Amino acid sequence: MMNTKIKTLLTLGASIACLQSLQAQTQVNSLKSAYQEDFLIGTALGTEHILERNEKANQLIKKEFNAITPENIMKSQLIHPEVNRYNFNLSDKFVDYGLKNQMYIVGHTLVWHSQLPSFVHKISSADSLRIFMKEHIKTVMGRYAGKINSWDVVNEALNEDGTYRKSIFFNKLGDSYIKEAFELAAQVDPKAELYYNDYNIEQPAKRKGAIALIKKLQESGVKINGVGIQGHWSINSNNLKDIEDSILEFSQMGLKVAFTELDLTVLPNPWDLRGADVNQRFQEDPKMNPYKDSLPDSVQTALANRYSELFKLFLKHKDKISRITFWGVDDRHSWLNGFPIPNRTNYPLLFDRALEPKRAYQSLMSLKESK
Ligand code: XIL
Repeated sequence: MMNTKIKTLLTLGASIACLQSLQAQTQVNSLKSAYQEDFLIGTALGTEHILERNEKANQLIKKEFNAITPENIMKSQLIHPEVNRYNFNLSDKFVDYGLKNQMYIVGHTLVWHSQLPSFVHKISSADSLRIFMKEHIKTVMGRYAGKINSWDVVNEALNEDGTYRKSIFFNKLGDSYIKEAFELAAQVDPKAELYYNDYNIEQPAKRKGAIALIKKLQESGVKINGVGIQGHWSINSNNLKDIEDSILEFSQMGLKVAFTELDLTVLPNPWDLRGADVNQRFQEDPKMNPYKDSLPDSVQTALANRYSELFKLFLKHKDKISRITFWGVDDRHSWLNGFPIPNRTNYPLLFDRALEPKRAYQSLMSLKESK
């Protein structure tokens, strides 16, 4: 017969062990806590998230992520719809959401050729375009000075071959618009981290262009803290070496490297379209939407493996990486259901349409648990 004292001690021991294991679990029970020593883990928020419309999504965002980027609502078309009119309703709420939840807040984006308000396309003189750009930066960035931690100052200024994109900004102002934008951003909020953000800049030719663009800024003494590699990739992309080379080359320039819009399409792409030019659109075709009803097990696993490979590489270079942000919270809201072909069912993220974690989520958690 076990005496009562021993029994009590054993129960106590068991509860301590239980507590310890609970503690270990709570330390690693979310992405942000699992990776807290490594880099920030972010997500892109849509209007429904900012307005906290779905409580399950809201709890998930707060539990898993410690950085947020607005998916659309800070783009000039939405925040600055007319010459003298700004719409700060949602952006104020977005920033408040980040502040109240102690999240790292990213501003996206100040200067971009896409999702521009229509009045900008009607601007004919270089001077007027410069005034628009500068007023926009001063007003939007100024409003959130001291609150937004980092800004994508210029987005997508390059072509695939590394030359400057012939955007409205480049055509009217030459490449010096980039320098002017960064210079002004540094004045408006000296505390904010300033990033150049683009897709495919892990690929050699475009990377070379990005390096040249950033070197030019650095040589003229303009502040730039980091580079954002968007990371709109596929489960089939074979680009680990390009990504690793990019992390090394950009960080050697004294830049922080962030992966700012990570998602992995699982759908076919017969035109070999790569990247994320939001103006590219293709026709609907049932053959291009093979997983309309559900995702086969093998593809679910392929997605998990690919995420795992990427994160192993990110962990290897965690000292050079500031943040990994997923482009959306869950598969239902991913822009990849509509891009580049409308009305498809894609599965690019870590949470499914019911906001449940997928195998890909488990694979990223287990990378940390096995350590
Ligand atoms: C996308 C949004 O996700 C879509 O909802 C919108 O219709 C188009 O823009 N590069 C960027 C992001 O920098 O802002 C884009 O976001 C995706 C590509």
